[in-house]
Amino acid sequence: MEEMKKIKEGVQFLKKKKVTKPKVGLILGSGLGELANEVERKTSVPYEEVPHLPPSTVPGHSGRFVFGFLNNIPVAMMQGRYHYYEGYSPQELVRPLRIMTQMGIEVLIVTNAAGAVNTNFNVGDFMFIADHINFMGINPLRGANPDDLGPRFPDMSQAYDPELIEVGETVAKSIGKMTRKGVYAAFGGPCFETPAEIKMVGRWGADAVGMSTVPEVIAASHMGLRVLGISCITNMASGTLPEPLSHEEVMEVGEKVKPEFKKLVKGILAEGVL
Ligand code: HPA
Repeated sequence: MEEMKKIKEGVQFLKKKKVTKPKVGLILGSGLGELANEVERKTSVPYEEVPHLPPSTVPGHSGRFVFGFLNNIPVAMMQGRYHYYEGYSPQELVRPLRIMTQMGIEVLIVTNAAGAVNTNFNVGDFMFIADHINFMGINPLRGANPDDLGPRFPDMSQAYDPELIEVGETVAKSIGKMTRKGVYAAFGGPCFETPAEIKMVGRWGADAVGMSTVPEVIAASHMGLRVLGISCITNMASGTLPEPLSHEEVMEVGEKVKPEFKKLVKGILAEGVL
């Protein structure tokens, strides 16, 4: 079946559920999903119930859409996302985002947990993504172009909206949170990178590294969405410290920064992103 038809069937299904027509989309990364609990007048829809969204690979941890209002702004949230390392196709990774966009979102706030390549960064920092390096080896736009969504050869020179970064920086300052701005490099995972790989992307200009976000931002850019990307630095990247990396460490830091993270994102919505 054509990709556009799959997306439209997903949209129809959600519209039948009478969910709010969203203006802002949020993708909540590892450990940052709690923001969805603060959505008012919400409708939650597990991805599995939506036509053509594949089942989660982790039993009992299915992701879901949460529609409703945050600071009186109609939002669509993805609480959990599909990762390439789980085995999904590049098109499957971005199908939920394309559905949210067809529902009405104009702005995307995308978040993730990331390792710091830049050794000036500290664990617990937030980094606004200024640009990215796609080192995943895949592109969600490969294949027939869904012309209704965007052009065959989309521009990527403004993938991350500088004005939204300014809004983010203003809010961060007002809540007394130190933030960084930098380049996010995406690897396919699921293993953490080798020290040599981290050295390489550091020389290329990367400040942080992770296993997500880039496919969604490519698809967002293709559809003309304004994007704000926020990385939560959960660890120093491979080889920058003597200790090995662990997923537990990533989740632990995510847990610790949750309150600040929620404050930041809610503050950004209140400051105005539309
Ligand atoms: N590498 C890749 N992905 C990550 C990391 C990392 O160091 N930390 C959190 N997600």
